[in-house]
Amino acid sequence: MAATRRVRSQVLVGFDVTPGDQDTFDAFVARRRAHEPLQYIEGSIPFATVELHVDDRVLVPRPETEFLFSQVVAMVDGPGVIVDLCTGSGNLALGLQAAFRDARVYAVDLSSDAVDVARGNAEHNDLNIQFFVGDLFEPLPHELRGAVDLIVANPPYLAERELADLPPDVRFEPEMALVAGPVGDEVLTRIAAQADAWLAPGGVIACEISEFHGSRAAEIFSRYGGAISQDLSGRDRYVFGSRGME
Ligand SMILES: C[S@@+](CC[C@H](N)C(=O)[O-])C[C@H]1O[C@@H](n2cnc3c(N)ncnc32)[C@H](O)[C@@H]1O
Repeated sequence: MAATRRVRSQVLVGFDVTPGDQDTFDAFVARRRAHEPLQYIEGSIPFATVELHVDDRVLVPRPETEFLFSQVVAMVDGPGVIVDLCTGSGNLALGLQAAFRDARVYAVDLSSDAVDVARGNAEHNDLNIQFFVGDLFEPLPHELRGAVDLIVANPPYLAERELADLPPDVRFEPEMALVAGPVGDEVLTRIAAQADAWLAPGGVIACEISEFHGSRAAEIFSRYGGAISQDLSGRDRYVFGSRGME
């Protein structure tokens, strides 16, 4: 479908393949044989109710992150202010803005390239999100301190030494989206250290984590009640918590 720029129904009823279509398809196959992720080749991926453009400036959103999204939507009740800290393609921010139309959604990424992609995705989906380039909470407006109802993040969580063992497809993705530092929990630890200054009383925080960081994440998030939950294959992949009511 992507190679011919035709919709599924046209493909199903059949059409004449032009030499140009064939050339595009052959080029796609060559890129895939070189292990480029299919989503970069096709240029887009659905996430919850939105359609996202993706290329090598951003991580390809994973089904595990869509599962985080659905758990968060089921957990919170009409959040007024939402922050997505490591937005990448904007998947979580856009999905949440589409789910909670009245919320004010703020999204941050250290990569200005990623923010360019996310901003384009928000425009394409006709969603109103405020984007910032910077380190975690640092670029957010000061008045959001103590006022955020929901913080979500899918931060980088690999250790530097894990990079060499990644499958070839993953090496097409930005290193900044994958590697957190020598240990792997560096970004998660910094999020936990800063989140309570930004959460409203009773505000919820939900992060995706490495399957190897469950017990460490429970410890880092203990002041938020740090509950670890599993993905559909039973691996520890999420930490949920909340700021106490004062
Ligand atoms: C694992 S990717 C997640 C992207 C997207 N939210 C998703 O679920 O597919 C992590 C993202 O965090 C960004 N990032 C890394 N360090 C950061 C930091 N200190 N502050 C903000 N964003 C950061 C990366 O550029 C990358 O886009």
